[in-house]
Amino acid sequence: MRHRPTVAVVDLGAIRHNVRVLKPERAEFLAVVKANGYGHGAEQVSRAALDAGATWLGVALVEEGIRLRDAGLHAPVLVLTQFPPGSEKEALAAGLTPTVYTDDGLARLAEAAGAMGGPIGVHVKLDTGMHRVGLPPERALGFVRAVTEAGLELEGLWTHFAISEDLDDPFTEIQLRRLLDEADRLKAAGIRPRYLHAANSGGTIAHPATHLDLVRVGLGMYGLAPGPALAGMADLRPAMSWRSAVAMVKRVAAGEGISYGLRYRLDRESTIATVPVGYADGFSRVLGDAAAVLIRGRRLPVAGTVTMDQLMVDCGDDPVEAGDEVVLIGRQAGQEITAEELAAWMGTVNYEIVCMVSERVPREYADEAASV
Ligand SMILES: Cc1ncc(COP(=O)(O)O)c(C=O)c1O
Repeated sequence: MRHRPTVAVVDLGAIRHNVRVLKPERAEFLAVVKANGYGHGAEQVSRAALDAGATWLGVALVEEGIRLRDAGLHAPVLVLTQFPPGSEKEALAAGLTPTVYTDDGLARLAEAAGAMGGPIGVHVKLDTGMHRVGLPPERALGFVRAVTEAGLELEGLWTHFAISEDLDDPFTEIQLRRLLDEADRLKAAGIRPRYLHAANSGGTIAHPATHLDLVRVGLGMYGLAPGPALAGMADLRPAMSWRSAVAMVKRVAAGEGISYGLRYRLDRESTIATVPVGYADGFSRVLGDAAAVLIRGRRLPVAGTVTMDQLMVDCGDDPVEAGDEVVLIGRQAGQEITAEELAAWMGTVNYEIVCMVSERVPREYADEAASV
């Protein structure tokens, strides 16, 4: 039973549209659905993406992969970091595809795989310059030989870009070159993994040479661009909107302060609307005094500190009533507030905005006819 009016609406038609727009003709599409599908709902997004031509799913955690299996999804699932120590048997039993890049990780995986029987395909990840996780590229050939000697099959060789959202930075090309050089060395030794992959959304949208055999797309699939330079380069449709409704309206006298700390002082009598959304829902406290919301097609400022469960909006002399729709992200009567705007107000990126919408906010799934 749902009582609160606050909801994140996810348009699965937009997800399908974005997959179709972003999938290169000759490369497979891995839908990155970690972090509950960047806040959109991993299971629902996965089904929509697979429907639209994705053939792989990608997660950060073994737990996330197992959840997809429990939901009845059978597509290949690549875990984007090494299986944590002790999780290997469970992960393999769930049919998750391992990424591997350390000797220790390989040894643990081989031991678990040996006990399972049957061929296990693995993806070796190279650190070509981001320095988060991965094998030093110059170790690729020796490591890949160790993979096969351990009875595992090399299915993929991949890397991850640090700055592909920047059109001009040459580092993406340098990272790609490092991956391809190692692939060439493997080829010379008679080893050709089925999948060479590197592109995230930035690579997929802005660097076609990085598409290779498979692209791993997260943000773009959700309809958001990974950087301002890429906005408009692909016809993306934001999938998430975030809505609530005014819970209470009151007139407040000039000189009064609003919310904790009383920092927001009214310099005139004003109508203050209270909205049942707070930082526990993922509307950060730092958005107080910076953000705006839409009510009746007007942009109105958040007034004072965002509290845990509620925030206040300064409506001036505009007519507002309890029950009026409030848009935190999305469109209303020709106006729009984007995840990028919220990100700018918070000093962060659009990735974090959609991931922040907390579990307390119910997700509702729409399938807008126009997007299908
Ligand atoms: C290894 C890896 N590949 C692909 C992606 C997808 O990136 P994006 O959301 O920019 O498309 C991520 C996300 O951070 C990632 O960690």
